[in-house]
Amino acid sequence: HPNLSLDVLSGLMLDGVPLTAIAEEVGTPCWVISADTLRKRAAQLLGAMKGAGLSVSAHFAVKANGHLAVLKILAESGMGADVVSGGELLRARKAGIPASRIVFSGVGKTDAELRLALEEDIAQINVESAEELEVLSGVAASLGREIDVALRVNPDVDAKTHAKITTGVAGNKFGIPYDEALGLYRQAQALPGLKPVGYAVHIGSQILTMEPYRAAYARIAELVRATRAAGMAVSVVDCGGGLGICYRDEGAGSPQALAGAMRSELGDLDVRLAIEPGRWIAAPAGVLLASVILRKAVTGGEPFIILDAAMNDLLRPSLYDAWHGILPLSAHDAGLAPEAAAIVGPVCESGDMFARNRQLPPLQRGARVALLDAGAYGSVMSSTYNARPLAAEVLVDGDRWSVIRPRQSVESLWASEVMPDGVRVEA
Ligand code: LLP
Repeated sequence: HPNLSLDVLSGLMLDGVPLTAIAEEVGTPCWVISADTLRKRAAQLLGAMKGAGLSVSAHFAVKANGHLAVLKILAESGMGADVVSGGELLRARKAGIPASRIVFSGVGKTDAELRLALEEDIAQINVESAEELEVLSGVAASLGREIDVALRVNPDVDAKTHAKITTGVAGNKFGIPYDEALGLYRQAQALPGLKPVGYAVHIGSQILTMEPYRAAYARIAELVRATRAAGMAVSVVDCGGGLGICYRDEGAGSPQALAGAMRSELGDLDVRLAIEPGRWIAAPAGVLLASVILRKAVTGGEPFIILDAAMNDLLRPSLYDAWHGILPLSAHDAGLAPEAAAIVGPVCESGDMFARNRQLPPLQRGARVALLDAGAYGSVMSSTYNARPLAAEVLVDGDRWSVIRPRQSVESLWASEVMPDGVRVEA
């Protein structure tokens, strides 16, 4: 982890900041994200595209981390936004991302969301079905507006990733079946309010090898050629997101490899390419800090290390059996001989488990740890289950840090609740 280092005195550092200092002042659980890492990764990804001679517009997938400060840093680093709801659209606008750099994806956009996208005049809507095309045309015509549309195609390619985050195989809800795409593109030409500009494809997330990408892009290239052969113009191919990272020891692909796949399959099409990266940019930038509430001994088995962070904070291990690295914050703890332990949260579900049989130094009550690679699909997937307030968020910028979202108060959990007799409960 390029942004983490161990200092003998200060313990685990994120860039120039000792994480213990943050944990002591802000408390735990607490998300910490590195501005430098966000900037560096955005530059690296854009540089790889440029290095391959590709003209690419990059749209950060807001779903991965929608914090306004994160979006602003990425906007300053040259990225637009890929949004999947009206809320994300407004969030991106609020962070200062111009509408002209926003694309709207998703399998079910409400009429109100489509209206918002048209009124904001965003760059492009990725349409996922014949039905949606009809509805969008109706909404656009009623507003007297026209919008660029890309058809999201399901290329029926297996991204070889976790079943819950695979999206490009036939039979899942995403995209237009490959064989129907050309016909629908033709239909779209005739619909008022729509300007079909090209195709979009997103086959899944945490993709580790380039083969699925190549296969999907090759199919899209074939579709572009067929569409042009049928006399229609195509100027955009949106290549989606999905580039995986190394959480444990996976051999993840690089932006260079992705750029290579894009160039070899799509490079001679003379289209503007788009990408929608989320995880690759943000995941390694962030950690989740937690403290050990109790060390619960188990006769004849591994102890339970019970943290004050739980599945309501970081859901990925419970939902996908995802592996997140765990490091002690104290240099002293880090130096102890490891033992096998189960790392769990206090939520009342057996699934509230971060790791099992994990080799870690013996962690005592009060010890602090960082859960790694938590900058994407971390805080955004949190809930307040078990009446646990949302954790604080901190941004590290060089050797300075600041709270970018205070810990939610317990009172605010019920502040908007109303008794059935209409009496508002005092927070
Ligand atoms: N574009 C579209 C249309 C998407 O659906 C997604 C992610 C992305 C881009 C960004 O993909 P990325 O570059 O981040 O892989 N919660 C899951 C991941 C769900 C991804 C959903 N779609 C997780 O924690 O692993």
